[in-house]
Amino acid sequence: MLRFPGQGPGTPDDVVIGPLDLAARVDEALAVQAVAFGLGADEIAVRRQIVLRHLTSPGARALGATTPSGRLVGFVYGMPNDRSHWWSTVVEPYLRSQGHEAWLDDSFVITELHVHPHYQNHGIGRALITTITDSADEPRSILSAIDTDSPARGLYRSLGYEDLARQVMFPSAPKPYAVMGAPLPLRRR
Ligand SMILES: CC(C)(COP(=O)(O)OP(=O)(O)OC[C@H]1O[C@@H](n2cnc3c(N)ncnc32)[C@H](O)[C@@H]1OP(=O)(O)O)[C@@H](O)C(=O)NCCC(=O)NCCS
Repeated sequence: MLRFPGQGPGTPDDVVIGPLDLAARVDEALAVQAVAFGLGADEIAVRRQIVLRHLTSPGARALGATTPSGRLVGFVYGMPNDRSHWWSTVVEPYLRSQGHEAWLDDSFVITELHVHPHYQNHGIGRALITTITDSADEPRSILSAIDTDSPARGLYRSLGYEDLARQVMFPSAPKPYAVMGAPLPLRRR
């Protein structure tokens, strides 16, 4: 368990990082994702089915960031990459064209990482992603993030993730994504 001592009003007080039963708390997690990432009710309903299906994949697991009162304020989940999964089939031609297709094997995928805006920029996102990847058996990790200069992209770069492909279009998404990969364990500051 990791703790983040409170630093005054409006900052996380004793947020704890630990295992999350994401299937049981999927609605709380999606509420965090909705406000952090900007999702509407229709998108949440679609995401809910996708998350529950993902959780049946071998090796899928989740961590949560929880306040002392039990409120979920951040979460991460992922799983060993499976080339038959939709995400992998979409990114595969982009990685192949860059000579990076091998990253799809023996890789732990970070599927979602979100921290409630009131709790961002206090090290919770960094703690969630480093803790979940520390428990991975795979020697590397891959993920996709909107292809723009965002806090998420900055965080991933600082952890050792590098761009494997840019301008990746997912059929359902209006904005292009970057696919990033990093050796495990992730880089420490
Ligand atoms: C990406 C995200 C999960 C990071 O969580 P977080 O708890 O804020 O991250 P951390 O506090 O560990 O910060 C990590 C780095 O991100 C950067 N960062 C975080 N919030 C930032 C902000 N509001 N503005 C600028 N940089 C920011 C900081 O540079 C920080 O690096 P540092 O530790 O060297 O200072 C969070 O910003 C978020 O939920 N964003 C919206 C949803 C999203 O984009 N998810 C990722 C989808 S791919």
